[in-house]
Amino acid sequence: MTQQTPDQYRVFGNPIEHSRSPDIHHIFALKSQQHINYQKQLVDIDGFSNAVTDFIHQDGKGANVTVPFKEQALALSDELTERASLAGAVNTLTFKEGKIFGDNTDGEGLVQDLITNNVSLKNSRILLLGAGGAARGVLLPLLAHMPHSIVIANRTVSKADKLCQHFADIRLSASGYQDLEQQSFDVIINATSASLSGNLPPIPTSIIRQNVVCYDMVYGKNETPFLQWAKEHGAIKVIDGLGMLVGQAAVSFEVWRGVTPEVQPVIDKLRAALT
Ligand code: ATR
Repeated sequence: MTQQTPDQYRVFGNPIEHSRSPDIHHIFALKSQQHINYQKQLVDIDGFSNAVTDFIHQDGKGANVTVPFKEQALALSDELTERASLAGAVNTLTFKEGKIFGDNTDGEGLVQDLITNNVSLKNSRILLLGAGGAARGVLLPLLAHMPHSIVIANRTVSKADKLCQHFADIRLSASGYQDLEQQSFDVIINATSASLSGNLPPIPTSIIRQNVVCYDMVYGKNETPFLQWAKEHGAIKVIDGLGMLVGQAAVSFEVWRGVTPEVQPVIDKLRAALT
């Protein structure tokens, strides 16, 4: 009896060495009895399009895309979901019917992780810190969960303004950090890259009021500077981005396989292995 060849998936990036995606997808597949093989692939900075074409020729079924190729993945897609188009970036490619379908699961990964952590978004006042690619990628899924408002704060306020214009939704507004002083929020999401370099965005301490939940898209063995700061100033709950990482993978898996994988065991396993 011959064993059927597993469906092939990849994650393309540069660098890619530390990607946890193959582990995450293999656990999802094992638990949901899906026959897949998922590998990471380091792609030359100018070699993204060729890497995708080669993989399609090898009968690849889909791929995740990470830094710095998410915009190129968008340009390469024949069809886009609305969330990918508005995010301006694609992290999930599906190859079928001779076409390349582009999606972006980052924002849904964040939203699912907030829901898992019992954070209610409906009618909430959200503060989104940062106006780069990470912020842009989560705005549509956040808006879809009916918040009261989302204030986008950025050092360079013009970038936050641009995002508001791009999404054209009356619930959105732009702000500088100093103008946050008198405002009150239910959920604060750090979508800046400040934590990656051990920094804290210049947020006034007055915005940490009772019952505020703080989320950092970055994660690591140690609590990020933003989450440490939020805890010190009385945030009721702080959550790092590990659940978002697993969440976006889960949504990609669902897009490809039509099966919703269980995320918590994978989050727990990755958490235990953080160095
Ligand atoms: P990403 O794709 O991770 O979003 P990006 O598009 O380069 O990366 O955006 C980085 C974001 O982090 C920007 O909003 C940036 O603010 P500016 O637009 O004002 O530069 C923000 N950022 C980075 N370091 C920061 C810091 N130390 N304090 C506050 N914001 C910071």
